[in-house]
Amino acid sequence: MRSSPTISAMPDRQTTAPRVPRHLAIIMDGNGRWAKQRQRPRTVGHRAGARAVNLCIDFCLNRGIETLTLFAFSSENWQRPKDEVGALLTLFLRALEREVDELHRRGVRLRFIGERERFPDAMRQRMREAEHLTRDNATLNLCIAAGYGGRSDIVQAMRKLAALVAAGELSVDDITAERINDALCLAGLPDPDLFIRTGGDQRISNFLLWQLAYTELWFTPVLWPDVDAALLSGALADFAARERRFGLTSEQIAQGTTP
Ligand code: IPE
Ligand code: IPE
Ligand code: MG
Repeated sequence: MRSSPTISAMPDRQTTAPRVPRHLAIIMDGNGRWAKQRQRPRTVGHRAGARAVNLCIDFCLNRGIETLTLFAFSSENWQRPKDEVGALLTLFLRALEREVDELHRRGVRLRFIGERERFPDAMRQRMREAEHLTRDNATLNLCIAAGYGGRSDIVQAMRKLAALVAAGELSVDDITAERINDALCLAGLPDPDLFIRTGGDQRISNFLLWQLAYTELWFTPVLWPDVDAALLSGALADFAARERRFGLTSEQIAQGTTP
């Protein structure tokens, strides 16, 4: 049954275990505290965090996860001290220069989500090139959320649809959950099945507000630079043991009813 717009906006409604998430979304938090524990500047934590990103990508490739969305830098993170923002941008640019060819070789398709306007031209250029180079890859979709905010994602989607309505190309009744989904940054990808946040805080911090509607949430106090494959395996095992009901009853799920 696909008549309800709310339900049909959830492309992945797989409910039976064991399974691997098709789409894993991660808030990589705790770099600053990791550095502080070592009496080092926060930027040292960000560098260590970049190494954990590589480990996480390897993990997803090994486990056959189709899509990985990493929250690298939020729209609110622009308000951090200037030198920290500068160091993060440099780190980001270096990572693009260093990693893109290897990611391409491994079949990774890169996509950057977030408002690009505030990034320096050189970085925007690199982002465009990386997306273009990897556009036909299909082993892993890697979405990097940079300058991303869930609310501004929804705002830009609403503006797009409102412009279509104003131009007479879309009727108000045609504004459905699918339409909104398709106007958002992750258009064409299934919603995240599993969300992980490291660093101990249990909040969404303006990440994928729309797409996380029925995502399984998993939190750990482990700081992002300390993440390893065992921790990620633990999160996947926990996910595989959960029953996703999407509003139905356990009995309906046992009978194989799909929402
Ligand atoms: C996450 O680590 C990385 C970014 C937000 C860029 P933090 O820098 O937020 O680290 P903590 O939370 O202060 O420890
Ligand atoms: C969320 O972490 C954003 C990223 C990890 C990129 P923050 O450290 O910015 O979140 P808050 O401020 O603790 O909510
Ligand atoms: Mg933080």
